[in-house]
Amino acid sequence: MSGIVGFMGKRKAQPILLDCLDRLDYRGYDSAGIAISNLEGVEIRKTKGRIKDLRDVLLREPVPGGQLGIGHTRWATHGQPCAINAHPLTGCDARFIVAHNGIIENYPQLKKELEQEGHIFKTETDTEVIPHLLEQHDTGDFEETVRLVLPMLKGTFALAIMSQASPDTIIAVSQDNPLILGFGKGETFLTSDIPAILTYVREFYPIKNGEMAILTPEKVSIKTVTGDVLIPKRIVVDLNPQDVMLNDYEHYMLKEIFEQPKAIEETLAGRLSEDMVYLPELEEVWSEEKVQNLRKIDIVASGTSFHSGIIGKRVMEQLLGIPVAVSLSSEFLSEHPKLDEHTLVVFLSQSGETGDTLSALREAKKYGCSTIAITNTAGSTISRKAECTVFTKAGPELAVASTKAYTSQMAVFTALAIWLAQKLGGTGCAQIPDLIKSLARLKQDVESTLIMTQDAIDQFAQVIYDQDHIFLIGRGLDYVLALEGALKLQEVAYIHADAYAAGEMKHGTMALITPGVPVIALATQHQLLDKTISNIKEVKARDAFVIGITTVGDSLVGEVVDEVMYIPSTHPFLMPVLAAIPLQLLAYYSGTVRGHDVDRPRNLAKSLTVH
Ligand code: G6P
Repeated sequence: MSGIVGFMGKRKAQPILLDCLDRLDYRGYDSAGIAISNLEGVEIRKTKGRIKDLRDVLLREPVPGGQLGIGHTRWATHGQPCAINAHPLTGCDARFIVAHNGIIENYPQLKKELEQEGHIFKTETDTEVIPHLLEQHDTGDFEETVRLVLPMLKGTFALAIMSQASPDTIIAVSQDNPLILGFGKGETFLTSDIPAILTYVREFYPIKNGEMAILTPEKVSIKTVTGDVLIPKRIVVDLNPQDVMLNDYEHYMLKEIFEQPKAIEETLAGRLSEDMVYLPELEEVWSEEKVQNLRKIDIVASGTSFHSGIIGKRVMEQLLGIPVAVSLSSEFLSEHPKLDEHTLVVFLSQSGETGDTLSALREAKKYGCSTIAITNTAGSTISRKAECTVFTKAGPELAVASTKAYTSQMAVFTALAIWLAQKLGGTGCAQIPDLIKSLARLKQDVESTLIMTQDAIDQFAQVIYDQDHIFLIGRGLDYVLALEGALKLQEVAYIHADAYAAGEMKHGTMALITPGVPVIALATQHQLLDKTISNIKEVKARDAFVIGITTVGDSLVGEVVDEVMYIPSTHPFLMPVLAAIPLQLLAYYSGTVRGHDVDRPRNLAKSLTVH
């Protein structure tokens, strides 16, 4: 997805906008641009490529002066990544300058109408209709013109708009797509994501649907689209700026993998006693009676969050004994299960802004379902729209491939399942004391896993990095984890990796096993070990090169594989948290040895607000 930044203050806007764009480029990095006003007019520079390419353009063609401006880093949806399609975009005569995130769904029709009025389009983007519409309906009053045009736009969008005729003003709008104001001393920022401006400000205001923010050097006003003035209630975000710095690490991905002990610790802090889980954020809404009235649970998420959702489903089913389904956010609207007021829908999203997940949330609310969001991002749309939110406290996650948010989600999901089971009673409760003990030890176990696996995985990556195919197999929760391990290898190493339920290989995939092909066998679920070992022998018999991941104390897996890696043993529900770590490291080291930009993999973006 794309990212928008804006700045207005007494300092030079250009270095600040570039710095913020650098921190936001995980939202998109195929082209970038800025527009800066020196109060006499607005100048635009843009380019294909990343922010460093934009810096080069600015060195060649500097923008003189200017203490206010907007910037954009793009993940292309409509129109190829190239300088012409890069934002900010203008209309026929550059009167209005627009940076946009999201999709204008009715742009074909708007474009046709505008072309009939004589407007000439230069780009293949949906965005370009906006500056043309502003020109078409220009009343001479910037604010009024924006107000006239907004109701014509259908879709989800965040907009930062400037005008040549009002070069001291930026107007910002957010419609189901995040755009956040940040307030400093005598300066105001705009951003799609808080971490991008965290080094400058701590007080924020997420612009809501139906609101416009009007930034001028004198003041920032928030108004409804009908012109009523609102008093914004600022939120203070207590994050450490160090959290968004690389410090001594070469990449955010590695830093975030190593931040997992802290992320788990902070996520569980204050939520566990010796024999109970506490989630005070749910107490007000979730009485015992409400929990008892629950008939089923749906879990909805995308990408890596979907994988922790599948683990969550299995944990919840066993602890609660009620049906739990899990859906991909992008499939939920077309194929959702029966929803009603006895259904709880849990939404998992690191960013809290994934467009498909937010649409699913709106759908669930239409049916009167109860909703709980699990997100890592304070102030995110999902946390504002769901009935209750349980936050993971992994800290900002900046690498595109999710690592610490994933393991923190699994920890918090287990806590949520226990919390509901405590209220529900029933047979599953017998496991709770053991599970709580394992949760309390999880941080140490994650630390040990990092120590036990890092070097071995690094060496292993040097051996397998040039393979075209890798298979991951496992049973039960090991299979679910294999899905995530394969996704990581695809995302950052660009290796074709596929996950299979170990017992299913013989039904087709075995045909792909050729001598030497690497197979990662996850064997961390003790109760399934015998069967998994049989499946490992099947691929070994076809001369695959098998690396087993098992727990300390197991002596069986080592005998049937080529290489074995040991990780600590914990409750089976939490084994995926530990076993995820060597797979994350494998993706990271394979990606770096192949020379990829592991933090910004090709064609991907961190937060996808489009459908
Ligand atoms: C993108 C990211 C993934 C992430 C997915 C869901 O595809 O690249 O890393 O898992 O979105 O994001 P969410 O913020 O909803 O967890």
